[in-house]
Parts: sequence; C-alpha cells; structure tokens
Amino acid sequence: MDLHDYKDVAENYDRYLDVMYANGQDNHEGFQEFYYELAKKYGDDGVVDVACGTGAVLLYLAERGIAADGTDLSEEMCKVADAKARKMGLSLNIFPADMTKFTSGRKYSLAIIARSGFMHLPTQQLQKDALRNLREQLLPGGILTLNTFDPWPPMQAQQMMTTPDDYTFRLEYVNADGNREKIYNAITYNPYTQQMYGNWKFEEYNDAGEVIATRIRPLLMRQTNRHEMFLLAELCGFEVLDIYRGYKGDKEDQNDPSTAAIYRSNLIWILRRKD
Ligand SMILES: C[S@@+](CC[C@H](N)C(=O)[O-])C[C@H]1O[C@@H](n2cnc3c(N)ncnc32)[C@H](O)[C@@H]1O
Repeated sequence: MDLHDYKDVAENYDRYLDVMYANGQDNHEGFQEFYYELAKKYGDDGVVDVACGTGAVLLYLAERGIAADGTDLSEEMCKVADAKARKMGLSLNIFPADMTKFTSGRKYSLAIIARSGFMHLPTQQLQKDALRNLREQLLPGGILTLNTFDPWPPMQAQQMMTTPDDYTFRLEYVNADGNREKIYNAITYNPYTQQMYGNWKFEEYNDAGEVIATRIRPLLMRQTNRHEMFLLAELCGFEVLDIYRGYKGDKEDQNDPSTAAIYRSNLIWILRRKD
C-alpha cells in the first residue's frame, strides 16, 4: 500500500492540498489552466488523465467542455473523482488501472500525467514500462506530458540524514469528519535508487485538543534527473518537444545546464510519440 491507496487519504486529499497551496508549500500553481491550454492544443482526438487522483485536472477540463477519460492506480482516488464528477452532473469514464499496463480500448491524442504522478513509479524499469505503454495508448504523433522535480543535491543530502521517523510538521487542516488534523512527514533519500521514501503521519484531534487517532501512511517516489529523462524518452519512442519550468509557461533552455540546480524546479515535459 502506498499513500494514495488509503481511503482516508483519498477522502481528505483535496482538503489538505488546498491548505498546502494556501501555505505556498506546493509549486503546482496554475497547473489546471496549463493542462487546459495543452488539451485545447493537442487533445482534439481524445484526452486521458493518467494518475488522475481525485480529478483535479479531469474535472477542470470536463467543466470546460473537454470530456477526458481518467485512470488511477488507487481505487479510492477513482471513487472520489467519480463521486465529484457525478455531483457536477458529469458522466466520465474513470477507471482504476496501472499506467504501466492499462489499455482502455481506444487511442488518445493527449495523455496527461499531472502533479508528479510519474514520480510515483519507484524504479527505472517501471518508468520505462509506463512510457512504453502510454506510447501504445497514443495515436501516431500523440503527446504525453509529465513532470519531474529536478533533483537538488543540498536537499537530498539533508534527506539522507533523515530517518523514516524524523517527522517534520507540514500543515493543519480540517478532515472529512470535521476534525482538526495535523500532518507531519519524514522523507529519506537513497542516492543509489534515487528513491524518496518515508511516512506521512496524520494526527486527528477532538474539540478538547486531545489526539484521538494517529495514522501512518507510507510514500515511495523516485527522482529522475533531466539527462536521464531525455534518455528514457528516446528509449521509449518519444521526442522531447518542450520542457517548461513550472506551470506559468516559462520554457527551459535545453542547452543551458546552468539552470539545472535551481531549487524546486518543477520540469514539465512535453513528449511526442515518434512513429
Ligand atoms: C500526487 S497524486 C496526483 C493526482 C492528480 N494527478 C492530481 O493532480 O491531483 C499521484 C497519483 O498517482 C497515482 N499513481 C501512483 N502510481 C500509479 C500507477 N502506477 N498507475 C496509475 N496511477 C498511479 C496515485 O494513486 C495518485 O493518485
């Protein structure tokens, strides 16, 4: 089980992400508009939101007339996305599936993996499996977009000293049951596997300020550096069309390695299926 497989995480995901945004702890600002623009540009022959989670992108697109399919490994996340769609009067094809092997019986001109879904593939082999499978789900010339966080050595060095129990407070929010909850996480980095792993701890409080429940949920992600991503794309039958630094439309200069070490660089890759 990984973080998003848990019912309590899926039910509360939108709630604590809203607080993360408000606190400026998330560098995905503007992501829905960014994907909407991509969908208008590349999605005429069908869009699939892969690792759609609770539907942040999927529902944003659907509200604007782009009926994408949605798929996620976690049944719990799919259930939440589906319930939200129904509440909005939308009938969408949302199904649980693993991006390394799913097929929906149709092809798409655009596949979106938004907000770090690709980083949840913990090995290079699984990343290759996903890229090759997604290539098969695309029409010739189809576009796949995914994001990676450019590894930042000072942060990794810090994380290498952390144990999976060294919790840091992240945020406080109100959960789906109306109770105050504090979130802590402890993330360790393994430079050999490029994996970030650790735990998220959710501490739930009653009105008297007493802890009434503590839940520990594991997380495993892999960092991919940009040079590796170029090779992975090529190996799996894609060409790199563009790289954006964040969702505000700033393009990365692919030939300028000095930009590589800027802290918190969220690289958004636009890959085109080579025929
Ligand atoms: C950080 S969430 C992002 C969710 C959504 N894209 C968003 O923007 O809110 C990552 C998602 O990736 C999903 N995921 C992890 N591994 C996956 C896999 N192998 N295939 C499909 N989805 C996967 C998780 O279940 C989780 O919902």
